[in-house]
Amino acid sequence: MTILSFKEFEHQAWQAAVDQYDASFSRLTQQIIPAIMNALNVRKGMRFLDVACGPGYLAAAAHQKGAKVSGVDFSSSMVSRAKQLHPGIDFNEGDAEDLYKIPDASFDAVGMNFGIVHLGQPEKALKAAYRVLKVGGRVAFTTWCKPQEAVGFSLILRAAEIFGNPNVQLPSAPPLFFYSDPENCKNALAKSGFSNPNVQFVNQIWELHLPDELLEAVLKGTARTAGLLKGQSKEQLAAIRQAIRVSISEYIQDEKIILPMPALVAWGTKS
Ligand SMILES: C[S@@+](CC[C@H](N)C(=O)[O-])C[C@H]1O[C@@H](n2cnc3c(N)ncnc32)[C@H](O)[C@@H]1O
Repeated sequence: MTILSFKEFEHQAWQAAVDQYDASFSRLTQQIIPAIMNALNVRKGMRFLDVACGPGYLAAAAHQKGAKVSGVDFSSSMVSRAKQLHPGIDFNEGDAEDLYKIPDASFDAVGMNFGIVHLGQPEKALKAAYRVLKVGGRVAFTTWCKPQEAVGFSLILRAAEIFGNPNVQLPSAPPLFFYSDPENCKNALAKSGFSNPNVQFVNQIWELHLPDELLEAVLKGTARTAGLLKGQSKEQLAAIRQAIRVSISEYIQDEKIILPMPALVAWGTKS
């Protein structure tokens, strides 16, 4: 059996996850975009880079504000989807941890929406963002709150813990919820050279229609948590699915499932 590095594991997962990600997560990960735009003070004419851009939702929002936008992602499938959805924007393949094709001091703002938890070396990505920013430019990244608050995670992780195998062997990586602690975000920004690190809590709601939608979205549209689910036996996965059907019923309102999925936006300035 080939042992993948975390980066290879993530790359394989995202190459295959585009359709499900775009169908299930777009309505969730776009909710924090206004907070990112505020944190980065996105305005007409500024040069804006969307890192780990996926299907390009943040890039598109900055483009709409009149910014001159580029997007970068290491998955060719994600880059193709971004180009297809937003034909007027410059999207390219590239690694967030070095951004090596991008010259120093070439952007006024760098945003990374829900990318940081997918990096084996997130501090390298913050340093790369620092390098490509002009003096006075800002970086912002977002991440999920802890599972106790971001309920979609707790429903899955609790079910896996009780009815499945919570210790599936995955490539080693920083803890999934490390940046869910605002102090860790601020320290990482400061260590990478950014001044005035700040963090804002943002309420988000994931609206689903069927009890099995959560498991399907995560199984087919993510990387690490999908890996946990794919590592279950058929029986364990069936038991996890059944447990989620029961626990998710607590979140039904007016025939919809409403899951709290709050997140943090963290930002700093290159001074
Ligand atoms: C959760 S998705 C976020 C997509 C998008 N930013 C959004 O707002 O929905 C994570 C993205 O990070 C990308 N990614 C993961 N590791 C990367 C790396 N080392 N360099 C560039 N992109 C990476 C994946 O291909 C995927 O598109």
